[in-house]
Amino acid sequence: MATSLLRLPSPFDAHVHLRQGALMRLVTPHVQQGGIKMAYVMPNLVPPVTTPSHALSYLKELQALSPNTHFLPSMYLTTNLTPAQIREAHAGGVVGVKSYPRGVTTNSEGGVGMEGYGVFDEVFAEMEKVDMILNLHGEVPSDVDGDGCCVLNAEPRFLPHLLEIHRKFPKLRIVLEHCTTAAAVECVKTLPPNVCATITPHHLALTIDHAVSSPLHFCKPVAKYPSDRAALRAVIREGHPQFFLGSDSAPHPSGNKMPTMKVLRSTLDGGIDEVTLPSPCAAGIYTSDNLIPLVATIFESSDIPLERMSGFVSEFGRRFYGFAAKPEDEVVIRRIGEGKVIKKAYQFERDGDAGREYVVPFMAGEKLNWEIVEA
Ligand code: NCD
Ligand code: ZN
Repeated sequence: MATSLLRLPSPFDAHVHLRQGALMRLVTPHVQQGGIKMAYVMPNLVPPVTTPSHALSYLKELQALSPNTHFLPSMYLTTNLTPAQIREAHAGGVVGVKSYPRGVTTNSEGGVGMEGYGVFDEVFAEMEKVDMILNLHGEVPSDVDGDGCCVLNAEPRFLPHLLEIHRKFPKLRIVLEHCTTAAAVECVKTLPPNVCATITPHHLALTIDHAVSSPLHFCKPVAKYPSDRAALRAVIREGHPQFFLGSDSAPHPSGNKMPTMKVLRSTLDGGIDEVTLPSPCAAGIYTSDNLIPLVATIFESSDIPLERMSGFVSEFGRRFYGFAAKPEDEVVIRRIGEGKVIKKAYQFERDGDAGREYVVPFMAGEKLNWEIVEA
């Protein structure tokens, strides 16, 4: 008979977006609801979290909203960051620094541009010294009319930067975030254990065909070829300890994900007089609310043995980040015969009387085969 109960030592999500304002208040408690006990929180707020004091005040807000979740704060890499700030951040409990190449994703305008990574040598040297983690969004910006870079080859073309940073700072702990390609998997496997990668549940399920047919499946990096998805599944199936869960759960108000074209007026002859064109769709897929049951459900549909859950959602990430699981934080999930339907949307009031909005989770309306057993 198929396993019906799974015991997971204190699940850790190594990459989550919790936003600010009304959206933060909606999604922060969902981390616990999804079976996660510890979460590494991304700094791409508006304005981004670029200083130690901002990281710590943001942490306080999150902790107040969900006191039983252990949040780990991060900072956003900019050319203003100094080695002194790295020491201050490390002393204050900031765990890592996230690098966004400029313009590749949500709120990345302040990220790394044509100057490349060499300008951060002093900062990276200090991070290596105090043992702070460098988190890399591993895509180079698109330049379709220039060097031919586009969303499909952006990750493989980033890998030389990863190798170069690792060559210069061999002891620096680095995470290649949300890796999506066979090339990235192969590359990380050749590196020592202080270089790891996170994998999202949605990249285990989706391929490029899904990404181009629904805004709900659009995220950065985009889901790639079936052969890339197969490589992600295979490395988890292998139980490889350098690959662990980072959900990249990234909620957006549905109006930003699915901006519709509005026809304001039709003319008497049936023509169209005025049209409001849609703005581009926001990148990001929301998974926090059901994360652990979702991962188990996707493992099964991806032919990944459930014995691999514990390493992937807890042990490997915790070992790398250096936070042992407390025995009392075990999470138990059970198989459900009927399947539980994923909520179609969460409603919230936008900040500043901007009206009601929705967040649509990944696989909304579809069924999960697993649920959390409440303690
Ligand atoms: C993230 C977001 O919305 O903040 N979007 C996404 O598509 N993954 C940013 C990111 O991690 O790239
Ligand atoms: Zn992210």
